[in-house]
Amino acid sequence: MALLSIRNLHKQYGSTTAIPSLDLDLQKGEVIVLLGPSGCGKSTLLRCINGLEEHQGGSIVMDGVGEFGKDVSWQQARQKVGMVFQSYELFAHMNVIDNILLGPLKAQNRSRAEVEAQADKLLARVGLLDRKTAYPRELSGGQKQRIAIVRTLCMNPEVILLDEITAALDPEMVREVLDVVLELAKEGMSMLIVTHEMGFARKVADRIVFLDAGKIIEENTPEGFFSDPKSERAKQFLAGMDY
Ligand SMILES: Nc1ncnc2c1ncn2[C@@H]1O[C@H](COP(=O)(O)OP(=O)(O)OP(=O)(O)O)[C@@H](O)[C@H]1O
Ligand SMILES: [Mg+2]
Repeated sequence: MALLSIRNLHKQYGSTTAIPSLDLDLQKGEVIVLLGPSGCGKSTLLRCINGLEEHQGGSIVMDGVGEFGKDVSWQQARQKVGMVFQSYELFAHMNVIDNILLGPLKAQNRSRAEVEAQADKLLARVGLLDRKTAYPRELSGGQKQRIAIVRTLCMNPEVILLDEITAALDPEMVREVLDVVLELAKEGMSMLIVTHEMGFARKVADRIVFLDAGKIIEENTPEGFFSDPKSERAKQFLAGMDY
């Protein structure tokens, strides 16, 4: 069984159908990059998977855990599925380590010593251990985003969802963040990634899933997708991209 099985997912915003009916499996250790034009439903899909948006039909099932919102609460689901956003979502009034510890201490009732030891290791890995007591306003965008990744990792999720995490960064900071994600992929983290960085998509993905109007139009290997896309729609999309 796949780690995450999405079946007949239907998402409606009022009278707008964002996702008519979508099936997608994520295997353990797999990295899927979701591509598609603006408004095709990439963020909606990620937000439905961890319950930030309610879906109106279908199911999201995690192997060994069950159906989100049915067998397990969305609060429990969000501990299994971490998400990193374009806008970091760090608390401005808390320093780095307090931002990182908040979820594990409050939602997971873990001991401060245990989580802090894990946090220290991860901060060192992303080169930010010396910024442990800094406040978000004292950090660059790239640093804030690496902290946001560490915060997500400290929850020990099974899957991480990344929604355009470099889109708000100055170009010189994109690399330092994407390198962290490439490392995670190499270590076998299961991820669903939305990105506009095509070179990165090609490098990090095991599979490219191309969406249009809330539907999967094409699934392909990165090589296949970028050098010889099967669908007309994907050809058009790639022709309009600058990479
Ligand atoms: N909160 C909302 N209320 C109403 N409609 C929404 C809402 N969020 C998204 N939509 C609509 O749902 C569709 C999918 O939007 P979504 O944000 O998922 O696209 P996206 O692929 O992430 O686009 P982008 O690449 O611009 O981020 C669009 O038609 C959008 O207008
Ligand atoms: Mg989006």
